[in-house]
Amino acid sequence: MTKREPAKLLRRLRPAKEPGKLHQALDGIRVLGPRKSWQVALSTATHAYWDWRYPAPRPTWDAPGSTPGCLLARDECPDGFNARFERADLEVRFLAADLLRVTWHPGLDPVPYAIERHDWAGTAPEAAELAVDLSDDGALAFTTNDGRLLRRDSPPQRHGDGWHHGAALHDGERVHGLGERALPFDLRGHSVEIWNRGPGGRYGPGVDPLYLCVPVYVGLHDEGSYLVFYENSHRARLSFEDDLDARFDGGALRYYVVPGPVPRALERFTELTGRPFLPPKWVLGYHQSRWGYCSAQEVRDVVDGFERHDLPLDAIELDIEYMDEYRDFTVDDEDFPDMQGLSSELEAKGIRLTMIVDAGVHRKRGYRVYDEGHAQGRFCRLPNGREMRGVVWPGWAAFPDITDPDTRRWWGGQYQALLDAGADGFWHDMNEPTTFSLGGEDWPPLMTRHAMDGRGGSHAEAHNLYALLMARAAFEGLRRLRPHRRPWLFSRSGWAGLQRYAWNWTGDTVSTWPTLHQTVSTVLGLSLSGLGFTGPDIGGYQGDPSPELYVRWFELATFLPLFRTHCAYDNPPREPWAAAKGLTDAVRAHLRLRRRLMPYLYTTAWQATQTGWPPIRPLFWEDEADQRLARVDDAFFLGDHLLVAPVLTEGAQSRRVVLPKGTWYPLDGGESIEGGGVIEVAAPVDHTPVFVRSGAAIPMDEDGELKLHAYGAPAHGVLYSDAGDGYGLWRVDRFTVSDRGALETSGEGDYPSAGAQLHLHR
Ligand code: GLC
Repeated sequence: MTKREPAKLLRRLRPAKEPGKLHQALDGIRVLGPRKSWQVALSTATHAYWDWRYPAPRPTWDAPGSTPGCLLARDECPDGFNARFERADLEVRFLAADLLRVTWHPGLDPVPYAIERHDWAGTAPEAAELAVDLSDDGALAFTTNDGRLLRRDSPPQRHGDGWHHGAALHDGERVHGLGERALPFDLRGHSVEIWNRGPGGRYGPGVDPLYLCVPVYVGLHDEGSYLVFYENSHRARLSFEDDLDARFDGGALRYYVVPGPVPRALERFTELTGRPFLPPKWVLGYHQSRWGYCSAQEVRDVVDGFERHDLPLDAIELDIEYMDEYRDFTVDDEDFPDMQGLSSELEAKGIRLTMIVDAGVHRKRGYRVYDEGHAQGRFCRLPNGREMRGVVWPGWAAFPDITDPDTRRWWGGQYQALLDAGADGFWHDMNEPTTFSLGGEDWPPLMTRHAMDGRGGSHAEAHNLYALLMARAAFEGLRRLRPHRRPWLFSRSGWAGLQRYAWNWTGDTVSTWPTLHQTVSTVLGLSLSGLGFTGPDIGGYQGDPSPELYVRWFELATFLPLFRTHCAYDNPPREPWAAAKGLTDAVRAHLRLRRRLMPYLYTTAWQATQTGWPPIRPLFWEDEADQRLARVDDAFFLGDHLLVAPVLTEGAQSRRVVLPKGTWYPLDGGESIEGGGVIEVAAPVDHTPVFVRSGAAIPMDEDGELKLHAYGAPAHGVLYSDAGDGYGLWRVDRFTVSDRGALETSGEGDYPSAGAQLHLHR
């Protein structure tokens, strides 16, 4: 059977749009075929057996837990204090004036995988921006020096190996972040789970948890704002009803508190957990993908289609069909007989090739990666010493113990095979990690052993860290293998600190209008968790979007960091000319706009490496006091100067936009508008309303020429430029346009200046 035949069969058997459990199970059998489905049944049963044989300690939350008891002793130290209670110990440290670390013991300290910076000088409490008030029962209050109470924590409670932590929330307090969520932008009134998990091939609004959970959030209320990061990778549930109720299944209770405003807090948080890396420039272009482009010829046909329709293309992504039997680091040389040749052919047209890598390694004797990993003891083991196995795309698979530094080095070296095949970038998938299951738990047994960098531990602690460490292994491997080029990979799953190694995409969404709308909140939540470089599958992963829905999704993604169409195996063609049908002109216009904005986008990406600020920001970013901006979930800032108001509803010809105070200009020219109110703007299907702040100078690429568009005068702008890859020369130009329209540039760095022409919008 060729690879195309199952695709046709699958299409005939397509289930209803919103399948129930039975449909999902049938869907699974349909996609996997009978043999692998049988393996899944067996794996589900053995997983249940392992969980019974080696039960993981689970706290009982319904019985009362033990409180710290009374304060027995308190010792001051230069950068904080230690306090001893009857049944717990507390350590409070000011790592910096605006960065506080609180740790409650008992419980194992985390292996600091999320942490990038360790060498904090420490600050004396008197010199800090926050005062910490400890009560005799272990309650803590965090107050700013001018007397604003940011947060009040109740004494934590210990439940077996777990910690229960409560904090008062102010009236009207808003909560944002927690990684990737298909929930409203403001998470107040909601409960979230911290447990990385695929939603079973499709999700829409309301599904929780998803692939990438991060226990970090920002809280905003009348007295100010703050960020809290729980450095605890155990499974957790945080609920933001009247108060915060947080429950961690194990580990010490360690958390960091950073006072706002939010941009400053994110700057600190990303100093702690690491700043995003600068991607190669091509990554900011448009990527075309689907599961699956099944042969080199099919890839060529797709590329021809882009040329025929005069649509610029920057990257093609290869899903699992390029592999030999879905085995990592292999290429199917029947369907892709000369991958390196294909890659060079594409490169000559300015198109890069990205290849998927899954977490599970096929357990097959004679398959080099498995044999090598098995011989070297690289795979996770069960408590009885046997290799842990689960079923994923290739069938039975083993999972590298990526918490072992030697395994990370070994895994990082494997990318050489795909570099040799011409890969420019990588795509990490199924790395929660997911193992298929028939209605059971779709992750490895919790008592699976992990090295945890020599400290030892179980999957209960390592699960949420798995994708972070897989990304680290790849990133560090690529730095070694190809030191003159910048690595780029994007990952479905992750944890705090992923921004150091990988971008993300928002996974297997359903093709519906509510899911399109959801994308904005999901991206903003990720951005406020330090993970700003993300984007959706344009059109939704599962389904058959109408041309209008596809085009509106495309328009939204034009202004997001990852700009990529992708869809499932059994969906109708998703190349823009097929999916947009009569609306291909709208797609073309947005592709060209993306290219025009490239200097601004690249500068915004560079800014993120310096400040940790996400490219996509909520409207309250610069004015936390303006209540009209507080909960806007259908518009966002892209970088410092653009306000994007995508159309997210069917049939709309116009939309309402809440404009922050100040003067604004439509990006494509026209009269200036006074902000501070709500306006109705035209938004026909080929147009996305975008506004530029008055006084902004935006560098644009117009047919290879650098044009500086100044909106109003005086105006200011910045441009970062370099060769687009590698670690060579760079320059930063700062532009000032005087109120009389004269342009002055001051440059730093040695990369040759492009010399901008000014276009003034008055
Ligand atoms: C997962 C990914 C999806 C991919 C598929 C096959 O469902 O989320 O993007 O197409 O696996 O690799």
